[in-house]
Amino acid sequence: FPNPHEPWAQDKAELHMHLEGCLEPDLWNKFQRKHSYLDIAPVTTVTYPFTDLSSFLAWRYQGDRLLNDEEDFFDLTWRYVQRALDNHIVYAELFFDPQAHTARGVSLDTVMSGIIRALRQAEQRYGWTARLIPNILRDHPLRTAEDDLAHLEAYGDWIVGVGLDSRELPYPPRLFRHLFDQVRRKGWHVVAHAGEEGPASYIWQALDELGAERIDHGIHAMDDPVLMGRLKIDRIPLTICPWSNKRLGVTTDLSIYYKLFHEGLVLTINSDDPAYFSSYLNANFELISPYFPPDALQQLIKNSFVASFRTDF
Ligand code: ADE
Ligand code: ZN
Repeated sequence: FPNPHEPWAQDKAELHMHLEGCLEPDLWNKFQRKHSYLDIAPVTTVTYPFTDLSSFLAWRYQGDRLLNDEEDFFDLTWRYVQRALDNHIVYAELFFDPQAHTARGVSLDTVMSGIIRALRQAEQRYGWTARLIPNILRDHPLRTAEDDLAHLEAYGDWIVGVGLDSRELPYPPRLFRHLFDQVRRKGWHVVAHAGEEGPASYIWQALDELGAERIDHGIHAMDDPVLMGRLKIDRIPLTICPWSNKRLGVTTDLSIYYKLFHEGLVLTINSDDPAYFSSYLNANFELISPYFPPDALQQLIKNSFVASFRTDF
């Protein structure tokens, strides 16, 4: 049970959470039975046998195939709303991967109506709010990204930005320059996963060629002192995901986050794909808390609002 006296038991925002990453084992198995023709095996609550980003993504994309109708997307989103309430999250900017669904013939209208129905219900019942950030999958054809983004303009009020995710190597951000020129012209914010398994140069490209305003992960910034200066001076937030990094072998040294913080970078703490890492947001704070003095933990919580795209915090 959560301890109400823990320092992170207070209002927070979450800025790096993939909705498809909320497919907890019971939901996996519910959808597995419902769509049994897919021939996907059930899972147990034991941890998944992945060790790095690629082996994790293979599981994640398998799980994505279980999401097929409006109700599936509703259930998934509603699960996150419940977890968010448990984790003292009052606002979230939620990632989802349109191409993971449209590539299988699931319409974006199905995806969006399930997600939006859950978000509307959360707002009505609890005053809980969220906005959406569709991510472009680096390892899918660019053409499908363009089609999906054109379709998503109809949902403009719900969408605050567009991001870039999936395995980084060998897909440098610069390959998506033209696409993100269009994104910025539509008036959407830009974020990008970079420097998780890719090098610091991918972070430079995300900033200078895509116009990224936040970097998702960004751990490899620590390899480049000039980049560290840039992130600090321009106050570019890094959305850090400690349990994800630990489970995917991105770092074994949990003291690096405080080093980045101490250098003056704007860090936020996030859960990435919480059902797969068995760790929602508060567990991520708990994991790093031995390395952060109390006032620094407070600053991380403040940063979650400051780094969001809402302007009324
Ligand atoms: N998609 C979901 N989680 C991701 C991660 N940690 N890195 C890249 N793509 C992802
Ligand atoms: Zn992520």
